[in-house]
Amino acid sequence: MSERPQWQALQRHFDEIGGQHLRDLFADQPGRGEQFTTTAAGLYLDYSKQRVTGETLRLLRELAAACGMSDRIEAMFRGDRINRSENRAVLHVALSAPADADIELDGRNVVPDVHAVLDRMAAFATRIRDGSWTGHTGKRIRNVVNIGIGGSDLGPVMAYEALRNYSERDLTFRFVSNIDGTDFIEATRDLDAAETLFIVCSKTFTTLETLSNAHAARDWCLRTLKVDAAIAKHFVAISTNAEGVAKFGIEPAQMFGFWGWVGGRYSMDSAIGLSTMLAIGPDAFHAMLSGFHAMDTHFRSTPLERNLPALMGLLAIWNNNFLGAATVAVLPYEQYLKRFPAYLQQLAMESNGKHVTLDGTRVDYPTGPIYWGEPGTNGQHSFYQLIHQGTHIVPCDFIGFCQPLNPLGEQHDLLMANLFAQSEALAFGKTADEVKSEGTTAALVPHRTFEGNRPSNTILAEQLTPHTLGALVALYEHSVFVQGVIWNIDSFDQWGVELGKALATRTAAELRSTDEPPLTHDSSTNTLIRRYRRLRDH
Ligand code: F6P
Repeated sequence: MSERPQWQALQRHFDEIGGQHLRDLFADQPGRGEQFTTTAAGLYLDYSKQRVTGETLRLLRELAAACGMSDRIEAMFRGDRINRSENRAVLHVALSAPADADIELDGRNVVPDVHAVLDRMAAFATRIRDGSWTGHTGKRIRNVVNIGIGGSDLGPVMAYEALRNYSERDLTFRFVSNIDGTDFIEATRDLDAAETLFIVCSKTFTTLETLSNAHAARDWCLRTLKVDAAIAKHFVAISTNAEGVAKFGIEPAQMFGFWGWVGGRYSMDSAIGLSTMLAIGPDAFHAMLSGFHAMDTHFRSTPLERNLPALMGLLAIWNNNFLGAATVAVLPYEQYLKRFPAYLQQLAMESNGKHVTLDGTRVDYPTGPIYWGEPGTNGQHSFYQLIHQGTHIVPCDFIGFCQPLNPLGEQHDLLMANLFAQSEALAFGKTADEVKSEGTTAALVPHRTFEGNRPSNTILAEQLTPHTLGALVALYEHSVFVQGVIWNIDSFDQWGVELGKALATRTAAELRSTDEPPLTHDSSTNTLIRRYRRLRDH
C-alpha cells in the first residue's frame, strides 16, 4: 500500500501542508464552512474542521480509486465473498432492503427470508406489547432481558438506550452480557420470573458468556416457575444455529433466525434487534431500517466527492496514516446516545484491528484507530483537557441534534452551544498573544495557550429518531468498510479473539480441578493462578 504512487503523493502532500493551521485554511478559503459539508439520509456532515484542502480530498479520492473502491463497494452489495478468511459474503445491507428488492446469494434472493423473519418478529412483538402473550402463570410479560455479548449485546443495548424516548414505558429492559455473575444477578434481582422474557442472542450459540448466562436464566426461572414447560413462555432465541438452540431447550417456533452473511457487529437490524422491536414497536423498527437503507443506497450510488461514509472513511485514513492520530473520540451531544461510543468500539476495532492484508502480508502502515468517547458535556469535565492541550492529536466526531427530545428550559441550546464551542476551540485555539492581551501574567501564558489545529467532524441531524439512528449506524458501518478497503484488510473476520478464548478454556479447567494441577504457562501466569486458587479456597 505505502508503495502505491497515490499513497506517496499523499505523503508528499502531507509534507507540504501538514503543518498548516486550521486558522490559515479557513482564512484562505472563506466559504470553507459551507463547502466542506455534505448531507445524506437526514445527516449533515461538516468536515471543514479537518486539516485538509481540496487537493487533499482529491488525492484521497485517487487513492480510493487506485484501491478499487467502487468495485469493492459493488462486490459487497452483490454478495461476493468479501470476507475472504472466512469465505463468507457480507450482506448486512440486505437486512434493511425493501421487500421487493432482489439480492441474490448463490442464485437465491435472500430478501424474502429477511422479511419472513421481520414479519414473525413483528407478530411476536405485537403480542408481547399488547399483552396477548402471557407467561407460564398467565401473567403479562413486563420485563425483557436480552442475554448476549459483543454484537449480540452492544447493538441491542445501544439501540434501546438511543430510542428509549420511543419505547413502551410499561416494559422494563435489561441487558446481560458479562460472564461475571454480578451482571446477571443485578439485572434480575428485582424481577418476577412470571413476568420476565429472556431473549438469548447468539449468532453461533456457542459463546461461553451467553450460554452460561442463559443457563443461569433458565435455573432462575425454574426456581420460581418450577416446571420445564414454563421455559417455552419465557425464552426465545436469536441465532443462526438451530441445532444449538434446540439443544439448549428452546423450540424452533421460539427461535428467530439470521444468517452467516450477517456479521455479529453488523447485526442490530437483524433478529438480534428483537429487543429493540419489543421496545419501540414494529413500525418504528421499520423506520430504523429505512434509515439504514437510505444510507446504504446513498453509499452505493453517490460519487465519492459527496459520499458521506466514503468521505468520513477517507478523512479517517488521512488522520490515522498521515497525521499520525492513533485514536478517534466519538462525542455525542445527546444523552440517549450514551452507549454509541461503546457500540462503535466493536464495530470499528473488531473490524479494522488487523495486522495483515487480505493475502496475509504484514501491513507496513497503521490500521484501525482506537475508538473511544463519552457523551457531551460529561467528557468536557473529564478528558477534553488532553484533547485541547495534550500532546496527542485526537480527531473528534461531534454528533448533535437540532431538536431536543426532552426540552428543559434552555438546556438544549446550552448543550449545543457547548458542542459548537468545543469544535471551534479545538480548531482555532487561543494564541499566546491573545492570552497576553487579556492581561495574563507571563508565567501563566503557556498554560493558558491553546494551540488549536485539532481536527473534528460535526454530524448534525434534525432530531434523534429511529430513522436517524439507522442512518447514523449505517454511516459508520460504511466508513469502517472504506477504511478497510484502503488498508486492504479483511474487515469482517475477528480471529484476534480466538487465542484468549482457547487459553481461558484451558485455564478454566485448571481452576476447576480439585487437586493441584501441573501448570505449564509462563511463570507469571502460573504464579497468578496459584495465588488465585490459594486465596479463593482460603
Ligand atoms: O468477540 C467475538 C465475537 O464472535 C463477536 O464478533 C460477536 O459479536 C460475539 O463474539 C458474540 O458472538 P455470538 O453472537 O456468536 O454469541
